[in-house]
Amino acid sequence: MSMIVAGVMSGTSADGINVALVRLAARGRERPRHALLAHDKYPFPAPARRLILEMMNAELARVADLARLNFLLGELYAEAVARTARNHRVKIDLVGCHGQTLYHQGVAERFLGRKLAATWQTGEGAVIAARLGLPVVSDFRPADIAAGGKGAPLVPFLDYLLYRDHSAGGNALNRIAQNIGGIANLTAIPAGASLGQVLAFDTGPGNMVMDAVMEELFGRRYDRDGKVAASGRVLDEVIARLLGARFFRQKPPRTAGREEFGREYVGRFLRICHGASKADVVATATALTARSIADAVRRFVMPRFGPRRPQTGCQMIVSGGGAKNSTLLAMLHKEIAPFGIELHFSDEFGVPAEAKEAVAFALLAHETWHRRPSNVPSATGAKRAAILGKISYA
Ligand SMILES: Nc1ncnc2c1ncn2[C@@H]1O[C@H](COP(=O)(O)OP(=O)(O)O)[C@@H](O)[C@H]1O
Ligand SMILES: [Mg+2]
Repeated sequence: MSMIVAGVMSGTSADGINVALVRLAARGRERPRHALLAHDKYPFPAPARRLILEMMNAELARVADLARLNFLLGELYAEAVARTARNHRVKIDLVGCHGQTLYHQGVAERFLGRKLAATWQTGEGAVIAARLGLPVVSDFRPADIAAGGKGAPLVPFLDYLLYRDHSAGGNALNRIAQNIGGIANLTAIPAGASLGQVLAFDTGPGNMVMDAVMEELFGRRYDRDGKVAASGRVLDEVIARLLGARFFRQKPPRTAGREEFGREYVGRFLRICHGASKADVVATATALTARSIADAVRRFVMPRFGPRRPQTGCQMIVSGGGAKNSTLLAMLHKEIAPFGIELHFSDEFGVPAEAKEAVAFALLAHETWHRRPSNVPSATGAKRAAILGKISYA
C-alpha cells in the first residue's frame, strides 16, 4: 500500500516554508521506498518572519504572541500544503510538519532541582488538520528527548535510506550527507554501515552567521550565490580564533541553534572583525562555515571511516539553501579535497538540495503513522528507538 505524504519544513533560517510531496510505499518489514512528486517553497511574509525572530528573543517574546504565532503558523503551513497540492494536482493522504523551532536545548541541564533537556517547535497541527481535512503528524522532537536523546538531528533516518552504500566487493563508498541550513549538520555513513553505525551531529553555523552579517552590513537577507563573499578576503586570524571555541571541540553528538550562533554570537563576530571591509567580513563568515565543517570532518568523521584505503572512495553530498552559495561550496571543496573527499549535490541523488529536510519529515510522518520508530539513537544519543510526533485528526 502506498501513501502520498506532504512533508513541511521551516528551519532556523526562518526564510520560509518548504513543502515536499512524497509517495511512500512499504512492503512488509522492509524500509519504505520513496518517490518525490513535487516540491515548492513559500517565503514567509515579512511581518510573519519578524514575529518568528522576535519570539526567539527572550526580551521581546510575550506569551500571548507565542500562543498566536502557534495558530498563525498552523494557517500558513496549511496554505502552503494546499497550494502545493493544487499546483501539482496531487491528492495527499497525510501531512508531516516539523514546525518552527523557538527553543532547543538538547543537553540536559539543572532546572528547579532536576536535570532537563527541552525543545519547542510551534505551528498548530490541529489547525493544519482542520484546514486540509487530513491527519497531521507534528512535534517530532520531544519523543526523542523523552527517550534520553538530544531531539536532534532527525534527518539521519532519511540520509541512511538515501545514501547507505552496501555495494559488494570492497566497492562501497563512505558517505557524508552535509546539510547547510541556518545551522550546518552532517550524517556520516561508513561503507556498509548498519543504521546503528551512523554518526550525525551539528558542525556549527550554516547560513545563520552569513545571513545576519549580510542583513547588518548590506540590509539584504542573504549573500545571493556568494557574490559578496567572492569579492572579499578571508581574515584567517579571526577564523583561527573562532574555531578555538568550546563548541567546535565538543565531541558528537552535539546540536546547535540560534542559542549558539544567533544574535549574540554575530554581535561578537562583528566586533572581532571591526575595521575590516564589509566584503571581507562576509567572506570570513562564509569561511567560518566551510572550515568548521572541514574541521568536524577531520576530527570526528575521518577516524570513523577507518584507515584511508585507496580503494574506499568518500563522497560528501550537500543539501540545504547553502548549497546555492557557490563561494561557500568552492571553499568547502578546497578544505575537504585533501581528505580525499569528493563533493556532490543531493540533486544528483534525486532530492533537490532545498527539498531534503521536507522529504525527511514526510518520511518520518509515514513511519509514525505506521507506529514505527524513526529516531536514530546513535545520532541523537537516545537510549532507545522512539516513535516520533503527535497526531492531529481532521
Ligand atoms: N541563491 C542562494 N545563494 C546563496 N545562499 C542562498 C541561496 N538560496 C538560499 N540561500 C541560503 O539558504 C538559506 C535557507 O536555507 P534552508 O536550507 O532553508 O535553511 P533552514 O533549514 O535553516 O531554513 C537562506 O537563508 C540563504 O542563506
Ligand atoms: Mg528554510
